[in-house]
Amino acid sequence: MNSIIKIICIASSLTLATGVVAEPALKDVFKNDFLVGAALNPSQFGESNVSEAALVKRQFNTITPENVLKWGLVHPEPGRFDFTPADRYVAFGETNQMFIIGHTLIWHQQTPAWVFQDEQGKPVSREVLLARMREHISSVMGRYRGRIKGWDVVNEAVEENGSLRKSPWLKIIGEDFLVTAYQFAHEADPQAQLYYNDYGLENPTKRAGAIALVKKLQAAGVTLTGVGLQGHYRLDAKFPTTQAVDDTIADFTKLGLKVMITELDVDVLPPANISLSAEVSTQFKAETRLNPFIQGLPDAIQQQLAQRYAALFAVFLKHRDAVARVTFWGVTDEASWLNNWPVRGRTSYPLVFDRNCQPKPAFQAIIGSAQPKTPRASE
Ligand code: GLA
Repeated sequence: MNSIIKIICIASSLTLATGVVAEPALKDVFKNDFLVGAALNPSQFGESNVSEAALVKRQFNTITPENVLKWGLVHPEPGRFDFTPADRYVAFGETNQMFIIGHTLIWHQQTPAWVFQDEQGKPVSREVLLARMREHISSVMGRYRGRIKGWDVVNEAVEENGSLRKSPWLKIIGEDFLVTAYQFAHEADPQAQLYYNDYGLENPTKRAGAIALVKKLQAAGVTLTGVGLQGHYRLDAKFPTTQAVDDTIADFTKLGLKVMITELDVDVLPPANISLSAEVSTQFKAETRLNPFIQGLPDAIQQQLAQRYAALFAVFLKHRDAVARVTFWGVTDEASWLNNWPVRGRTSYPLVFDRNCQPKPAFQAIIGSAQPKTPRASE
């Protein structure tokens, strides 16, 4: 963050600390509906970014680590774990009484090549990879047993066409890598909630693949608490339509699962491609036409973003009995991954707090979508 923005952020959080100006907290507004959270980076949970850490504490009651629990960071080499940042993340959540999420154990990205290779660089056997999977899950989940309450066990195992992704996990172990991962996770922490997390499940073809996967996991008797819809959406109300989001939540609810919106953001920048994929390895060349809002977001688009967020939250609220959590992928626009994906170096505006830690019209629109309602019987 540049220093001017940092000063404004600190100034605004001081204003809030004095009680002069205070926006309502999302965690309070939706307390009878679902948890509301954000994915955090080390400057936030380590509190070196004082203003963003304060914003997180004021607004959210659940947190997800953006990166520090991914295999490549927590387990960079065979037999070597680096738990220092993750310990800090968990301590931040505990100090602030937040529902702490673990993200993610088994994925095709941000997993070092050594996991799948022997010393000669050849693919390891199924047995070796299963043993590595078990060691990783039991070490990482085991360390935070009873403290991290819910885990994204497998991330993004389904392709856009509904088939299983041809990841090294699938190629080396075979289809049962999925059932086995959930068994290892349950063994590591029998109390933990276990999730399957993916993007683009609003696409009916991909969703059908994920539903088939869920049914296989359920038939195998593994613990599967819920499905995470990542929620990397676009401003264009077609990508996806709110009806498709509604249908997706309904379909997973019918399978007896909870649904979490796990990585919510709304991309306002011109699409660099027509695909709806959120595959992190996709990159396109920077072009001026793809980065039109360097000087700020025009009011008309700010309002469109607000309407889009209001419409999405109306769907989440409609399904408040099934939706357990809504987590934004980031805290303010400043550090969103969408400043660098799928084109590097853009100025992006996908979240509900701006670069000065101020609530945007989208924040007010979300608050406005919450109508007073009677608490559920269980509350
Ligand atoms: C995926 C992953 C997240 C994150 C985002 C982009 O959605 O699940 O961990 O990497 O991509 O930042």
